[in-house]
Amino acid sequence: MLKKIGILTSGGDSQGMNAAIAGVIKTAHAKGLETYIIRDGYLGLINNWMEVVDNNFADSIMRLGGTVIGSARLPEFKDPKVREKAVANLKKQGIAALVVIGGDGSYQGAQRLTEMGINCIALPGTIDNDITSSDYTIGFDTAINIVVEAIDRLRDTMQSHNRCSIVEVMGHACGDIALYAGIAGGADIISINEAALSETKIAERVATLHQTQKRSVIVVVSEMIYPDVHKLAKLVESKSGYITRATVLGHTQRGGNPTAMERYRAFQMAQFAVEQIIVGAGGLAIGNHGDQIIARPIMEALSIPRPSRKEIWAKFDELNQNIYQKS
Ligand code: ADP
Ligand code: F6P
Repeated sequence: MLKKIGILTSGGDSQGMNAAIAGVIKTAHAKGLETYIIRDGYLGLINNWMEVVDNNFADSIMRLGGTVIGSARLPEFKDPKVREKAVANLKKQGIAALVVIGGDGSYQGAQRLTEMGINCIALPGTIDNDITSSDYTIGFDTAINIVVEAIDRLRDTMQSHNRCSIVEVMGHACGDIALYAGIAGGADIISINEAALSETKIAERVATLHQTQKRSVIVVVSEMIYPDVHKLAKLVESKSGYITRATVLGHTQRGGNPTAMERYRAFQMAQFAVEQIIVGAGGLAIGNHGDQIIARPIMEALSIPRPSRKEIWAKFDELNQNIYQKS
């Protein structure tokens, strides 16, 4: 009979992971199960960094950013021999099932472990919103709120000084942070991977906005499109007439307390994950779809193509087209 379950966080951390951990601990406790936290993701599995925790632990972490149990990247985990060590450690401890919170790399690890006899349930933890089996990933809502706050602050000072600001945000290859936060923050220009504007195009557009006497311009760009946004700022400055500054928000987007919506979604998904474990399921990816929490086989979840955001981007981009076309 199932008595003990484990939980780990893996890959890049994200706000809300702690709320998910708390959800697992509290649900497990209510169902008479013990929860073991595994420190530093898959690294902790092979090094036996496991300890039992109670509801007091859960109560103290709900509001915290990051992951209090630590996360790591461990490329060696792709090696079956390394994973055998993890499975042996879990079995020695009597832990028969695991909740894994992470991105698609972590999902792969969870699938492999399930095939080796440890039932794993995966939760989508990343600020990037790039896990297609879930409408929203744990961390995304907080990250976009951080970016919107940064844009608001930048707008204040750009408006005071009649300047242009280029804001680079994270997202890996996914443009959701730039798109959602750019729209919510009232950006003037947004550039994402699937609708990337050339550096020259950005400079031309900013120059056109300058001609309309616009007091400030905010350009939000996804990371990994432009080799150096500070150089891009110099180009924009030379072509547009605005003094232009670049700000790379970087890891500030991955810290700080999770929003209420983040905690709510993370907690609900965690409860659902434990329910799946209790009925003996493994190899499932949990996600949300509208108001529903859903479960799919991990391999199916990983094969869902990323929805295109081109239409949303194009609708936003239309807003200034009349100005660009006049110039
Ligand atoms: P994320 O989970 O955020 O996508 P990574 O891609 O770095 O982050 O993956 C996190 C960890 O998942 C890796 O460091 C590795 O330990 C494990 N992992 C990734 N791919 C595999 C795989 N094919 N098989 C087993 N484990 C994997
Ligand atoms: O996947 C989350 C993420 O923050 C990406 O947005 C970013 O590209 C990457 O991780 C940064 O990774 P690291 O923390 O290893 O620099």
